[in-house]
Amino acid sequence: MLFKIAAACLLAILIPSIQGQVASVVPEDCLGCLCQASTGCNMTIPCTTGHQYLCGPFLISWAYWADAGKFVLANDDPERKGAFEACVQDAVCAGETVRGYMAKFAQDCNGDGAINCDDYAHLHILGGFGCNAPITQTPFYQGYLACRNTVQSLAG
Ligand SMILES: *[C@@H]1O[C@H](CO)[C@@H](O)[C@H](O)[C@H]1NC(C)=O
Repeated sequence: MLFKIAAACLLAILIPSIQGQVASVVPEDCLGCLCQASTGCNMTIPCTTGHQYLCGPFLISWAYWADAGKFVLANDDPERKGAFEACVQDAVCAGETVRGYMAKFAQDCNGDGAINCDDYAHLHILGGFGCNAPITQTPFYQGYLACRNTVQSLAG
């Protein structure tokens, strides 16, 4: 079940990116697991209300999107109201946003001597400043680990 959802999610992100989107430090499988852990990679999930406004399958905030470089859909204007939501609710634009964010803040959050998807999972939740806080017991991180363990390229 989880694997099927993760696979569908990976495929949704993988196919457009093979067609020539930005290359990046964040592998496709990693992007898929961040998406999976955030919302089950639900492409139609509404923006959250409450103390944080988070949108799209990766649950991205406006500040995260802005830090990532304000990616937008083709011919959209980053200053247009709604440009943020339109981007982060689109599989490709959301993926570019996550990659842009990770490219900017990449670091060894968990102190294991490598910068890999585990660190991107920390950065995704904690942001670029103070990403070493303990989050391994959170539902997000547990979901990330469950996904990671189904994906050969992220195992180990
Ligand atoms: C996605 O989220 C919406 C809104 O919460 C929900 O109605 C829908 O069933 C979800 N889709 C999947 C595939 O889980």
